[in-house]
Amino acid sequence: MNQEKTNINWYPGHMAKTKRQIIEDLKLIDVVIEILDARIPISSQNPDMQEIIKNKKRIIVLNKSDLADEIKTKAWIEYYKKNGIIAIKVDANQGKGIQEVAQNIEKVMQNELEQIAKKGRIGKKIRVMVLGIPNVGKSSFINRLAKKNSTVVGNKPGVTKQKQWIRLDDKIELLDTPGVLWPKFQNEEIALNLAYTGTIKDDIIDKVEISYNLLKYLLENYFEKVIQRYGLNFEEIEEILNNDNNPKNENIMEIFYLIGKKRGAIVSGGKIDEKKVANIILEDFREIKFGRITLETV
Ligand code: G4P
Repeated sequence: MNQEKTNINWYPGHMAKTKRQIIEDLKLIDVVIEILDARIPISSQNPDMQEIIKNKKRIIVLNKSDLADEIKTKAWIEYYKKNGIIAIKVDANQGKGIQEVAQNIEKVMQNELEQIAKKGRIGKKIRVMVLGIPNVGKSSFINRLAKKNSTVVGNKPGVTKQKQWIRLDDKIELLDTPGVLWPKFQNEEIALNLAYTGTIKDDIIDKVEISYNLLKYLLENYFEKVIQRYGLNFEEIEEILNNDNNPKNENIMEIFYLIGKKRGAIVSGGKIDEKKVANIILEDFREIKFGRITLETV
């Protein structure tokens, strides 16, 4: 893979400004809700997050859990729990898990609120902010959470640059705009994971290369789902994969071409249209035609 391409930094100019703004906003915040893509909890996490939110209570939302492997999502939630972090699986499209997040906002603040109450301060509002890289579902999540029974507060007349707060109940207020973090392509695997899931645009890395790598991952981890999806012959595919006379990448490409043949992705002269095959595999993955798949394991 072209290193230059994978090292692309998003929002190079924006980045510092965005970070400053988030750090400024965080001064008002008690609880941070970090939205991750349940299919790629590592790759969809901004690695600077820890530093940015230090001293804040945190809840991790594993969003798009409707697309992810249920068993692996469960394992991730256990993993976070062992590390003292509450993680909740959510489907912001359907509104699943939203209520659980709302309940946990109070739970993570319970001790703190008790301490404050002891000092005589009653009625402190819990202020919450949503953070995450683009496309993980921050806006969908905020809409869902806000829909419960909210009222917009905080925009006093004559004050133009006031933050908009959404009152969720008598204790919790949510900042209406999420903090947009930037994805970081620390290695090729992360860049690819972000590309498979459509978190970054396909044109950053070559589509054939993306789909080839996805197919390789799927064959290694979800073999039967690939066989099923394309009506391939189990033994034939095993034989191709285990053919030691060819380099492994050629074996994978052979299966890539077989899929192309099966799907009629052929250009004049009978050659396989690689771009078309790439689109088929990527769309199938994104439209969960292989079933629910998680790309990162605990
Ligand atoms: P953002 O604010 O973090 O950038 O994300 P946003 O809410 O805009 O969501 C990005 C896309 O992800 C949207 O699709 C949204 O419908 C989808 N999405 C959000 N949450 C979930 C979820 O829990 N499950 C599923 N399956 N999808 C979710 P979109 O606007 O249609 O964009 P696209 O599908 O064309 O990429």
